[in-house]
Amino acid sequence: MKKNHIKNRKILILGGAGFIGHNLALKLKQLGANVSIIDSLKVNNLKTLNKNINNLSFPQLAKKIIKQRLSLLKKNRIPLKILDARNYHALSSEFNRIRPQVVIHLAAVSHADRSNKDPHSTFDHSLRTLENSLDNSKNNIEHFIFLSSSMVYGNFKKSKVDENEICEPIGIYGALKYSAEKIIKAYNQTFNLPYTILRPSALYGERCISRRVGQIFIENALNNKKITIQGDGEEKLDFTYIQDLVKGIVCVLKSKKSINQTFNITYGKSQTINKLFYNLKKEFPNIKVSYKKRDKLTPFRGTLSTIKAKKLINYKSDWPLDIGYSKYIKWYKNIYYKKQF
Ligand SMILES: NC(=O)c1ccc[n+]([C@@H]2O[C@H](COP(=O)([O-])OP(=O)(O)OC[C@H]3O[C@@H](n4cnc5c(N)ncnc54)[C@H](O)[C@@H]3O)[C@@H](O)[C@H]2O)c1
Repeated sequence: MKKNHIKNRKILILGGAGFIGHNLALKLKQLGANVSIIDSLKVNNLKTLNKNINNLSFPQLAKKIIKQRLSLLKKNRIPLKILDARNYHALSSEFNRIRPQVVIHLAAVSHADRSNKDPHSTFDHSLRTLENSLDNSKNNIEHFIFLSSSMVYGNFKKSKVDENEICEPIGIYGALKYSAEKIIKAYNQTFNLPYTILRPSALYGERCISRRVGQIFIENALNNKKITIQGDGEEKLDFTYIQDLVKGIVCVLKSKKSINQTFNITYGKSQTINKLFYNLKKEFPNIKVSYKKRDKLTPFRGTLSTIKAKKLINYKSDWPLDIGYSKYIKWYKNIYYKKQF
């Protein structure tokens, strides 16, 4: 495998104070990279929590989680520049100051429901920021890495999809992710910008505040609230622990074979939502469940094949759902019962 180095490499993470970004930054720092972050803290982050814009059930807990993220970044001496990446000129001057070799673009509205509720601002935070960051990267960046989503596939036509599957996204979030992939490829065609596109799915793990299914289950259980499952619970998702995604991104950074490629990066085996609930019940035996009609804008998904990532960049997932989810629940119990919020 043709190798690239991580040590001392200047890596800029846009949207790096989010769930994926700060976990990734900590790992890259540990591997010796010269990491910096740009984040506005204004989308699904500290500044939305003061007014609880996203109407979270437990905003004080979310705030505590974000503060933990920020203090970990500080403790590990990872510089965070608070800046709105929609502002082209401000972003350009940061690019000129940092002079990154690698850009990892995560800034977006990262939530499908929220994207459907507010397409206008989603477009701005997702595509405007992306174009600003591509334009600043086009002439002098060694590698541009973008986090797309399994939502680009739309309804899975097979139980397992690979990267060659035709994409037919449903709703605003998937459509914007797919447009983003096309724009990145256009920058590659026009300016030879080397890129990698990653398609993760159903992530869970420490310090997430996005209220995806795995987190809602735990928060409800901690607050003695009933769990509601959309549909009959037999629908499958490729639940992926955050450290598997982080490992995938490290593989992308290390291997030159990742250049100009698109990869699914997931656990690589889907499980039913009932199975997720069963894992929760092991930790919260008294928890109750009810079922309701599913949202028509949520595509039916399944397993994402990770064979291409294994062959080309040597990626192999480490965290089956029962182990990763139980580790996550233990972390959650710990932060919740300390009740310093
Ligand atoms: N978490 C998942 O399950 C998942 C799955 C697939 C893809 N993704 C994608 O990965 C990326 C990161 O996801 P996440 O879960 O870490 O989301 P997140 O919401 O936790 O983080 C996104 C970060 O981007 C920042 N941001 C948004 N707009 C900005 C702007 N205009 N200027 C500067 N910063 C801005 C936010 O403040 C936030 O900290 C997103 O693009 C998301 O769509 C996430």
